[in-house]
Amino acid sequence: MNRPAALEFDRVGKRFAFGETDVRALDDVSLAIAPGEFTAIVGRSGSGKSTLLNLAAGIDTPTSGEVRVDGRALSSLDDDALTTLRRDRVGVVYQFFHLLPGLDVRENVALPLLLGRARRADALARADALLAEVGLGPRARALPHTLSGGEMQRAAVARALVHEPALLLADEPTGNLDTRAAAQVIELLRDLGSRHGATVVMVTHSLEAAGAAARVMEMRDGRVVSDRANAGARPRA
Ligand SMILES: Nc1ncnc2c1ncn2[C@@H]1O[C@H](COP(=O)(O)OP(=O)(O)OP(=O)(O)O)[C@@H](O)[C@H]1O
Ligand SMILES: [Mg+2]
Repeated sequence: MNRPAALEFDRVGKRFAFGETDVRALDDVSLAIAPGEFTAIVGRSGSGKSTLLNLAAGIDTPTSGEVRVDGRALSSLDDDALTTLRRDRVGVVYQFFHLLPGLDVRENVALPLLLGRARRADALARADALLAEVGLGPRARALPHTLSGGEMQRAAVARALVHEPALLLADEPTGNLDTRAAAQVIELLRDLGSRHGATVVMVTHSLEAAGAAARVMEMRDGRVVSDRANAGARPRA
């Protein structure tokens, strides 16, 4: 049997009630992303990109259709199973980093493991290893507010990968970064994702960021209007 898609949308719709009208945030979207693929999702503001990622992460549920992660239909999972899947199989990187201000950088990175009941010493050792990979070894004991934006985002990438997720979802991970820091974060998502065997789906407004992906999907009005291989993308490490 073939390996199931890392992420599959089967005629997925998402509507939000909005006063008298309702918004069709996703309109009958079908897609399949293979294990290990690095995909960028582009499209105008309001086209449904974040909605798509939230459904993929199991943070939100579709109004119609089915989302599958590793071949498992999210609708078939109860709350506990969904929480476990999200905790063990999915990593998320946001535009605004979402590091906890009271924890130092390595504790932030270790957090997904600590929530999964790993031993504290093991979790912190693993966090140190990831921080070294993203070039933040020397800042491991710093508090997040003392980091630059690019450093915060690299810490957030380390946190998203610390539990070796199969699926790494990033929503405008470079939206708050200057060009150089953005390029570093994209390289990390690309190459670290590949080294750790993660499938990466990245929403971006940046053409440069999309240019690094092997596949680019464009959304408009809740639909995927183009889906193409990116011949110009360098192969991943
Ligand atoms: N919780 C919600 N309640 C009502 N409408 C929503 C909600 N979330 C999203 N929408 C609507 O769904 C549509 C898609 O929103 P979404 O956030 O997915 O867009 P996006 O492509 O991520 O945009 P941006 O690039 O601005 O982040 C928009 O019209 C938005 O207003
Ligand atoms: Mg968005």
